Amino acid sequence: MRVLGIETSCDETGVAIYDSEAGLLGDALYSQVAVHAEYGGVVPELASRDHVRKLLPLVKEVLQQADMQADAIDAVAYTAGPGLIGALMVGASTGRAMALAWGVPAIGVHHMEGHLLAPMLEEHPPAFPFVALLVSGGHTQLVQVDGIGEYTLLGESLDDAAGEAFDKAAKMIGLNYPGGPEVARLAEQGDRSRFRFPRPMTDRPGLDFSFSGLKTFTLNTSNDLRVDGVLAEKDRCDIAAAFEDAVVDTLAIKCRRALQQTGFKQLIIAGGVSANQRLRERLEEMVKKERAALFYARPRFCTDNGAMIAYAGCQRLMAGQSSDLSIQCQPRWPM
Ligand code: KG4
Ligand code: ZN
Repeated sequence: MRVLGIETSCDETGVAIYDSEAGLLGDALYSQVAVHAEYGGVVPELASRDHVRKLLPLVKEVLQQADMQADAIDAVAYTAGPGLIGALMVGASTGRAMALAWGVPAIGVHHMEGHLLAPMLEEHPPAFPFVALLVSGGHTQLVQVDGIGEYTLLGESLDDAAGEAFDKAAKMIGLNYPGGPEVARLAEQGDRSRFRFPRPMTDRPGLDFSFSGLKTFTLNTSNDLRVDGVLAEKDRCDIAAAFEDAVVDTLAIKCRRALQQTGFKQLIIAGGVSANQRLRERLEEMVKKERAALFYARPRFCTDNGAMIAYAGCQRLMAGQSSDLSIQCQPRWPM
């Protein structure tokens, strides 16, 4: 089965074609970062408008990449939530309408299921069952994955998501949106031993997270160091390093617990924060000690993209599921 996948839940327009036999045949991505940068974050209305502009040209582009006509597509998958409602509606209504015109089924996909399955697009994918750490701008969750659609929530953030915390900490030390990659870049030059930030909720049992305290810690530390309102470059790097280490350590401690609790020997990480190099290194060390294995997608497929939606949609369609003509998008949608 050949599925065209569409992702428009936030600030990336992604379109891809996934073939259940041949794998990924085309993949196009347009990032709106430049559109939102001057506002310091995503402006929902501008996001919707930009998706409208870019979506159909990207559909044409992936068909060209795959060297095929629309009649070679067996189904269309689109992100139906969670996300920005206007942005979701663009992808959903365009995708559903294309499927109707082409006379093929369509399916609304859960954005986080897309992220969760993204490591399956790689050459050596994990086999079910496994533990998944989903770390994006909107979610931080540990999930027991027994198969497609068989997801048990083991723990989640009680306040900010890990990516959200990265973005807010970045703002506090004067970095641009999107903050996560910028914090990581500065942290590389930072002295990791100068400050020790807390590892929230690691001293009590359970698999839930809380990142809002780290935000306050970042704010207080940076305020203490400002001279005439200005934070020196070295201080920014050292704070970035301390913040990154605190988040990474906390995630690693909970992942180890989740492996021990389930007895599983495979951990996958997915979502934008899974692109973080320090997190990958720290988790590689941890799984080695646990005699387990770590899986993740290439950086392009960690952040939002069309390939993960095409893949997840393909699995759902092959399981006999599809969506009807009344398009339903859900800005909030538990997986
Ligand atoms: O999965 P994603 O692209 O969008 C959502 O579904 O939210 O995740 C975006 C988040 C942002 O908060 C961004 O700052 C963070 O992922 N992120 C990173 C890195 N790359 C992206 N955080 C830390 N280190 C990175 N290298
Ligand atoms: Zn995402």
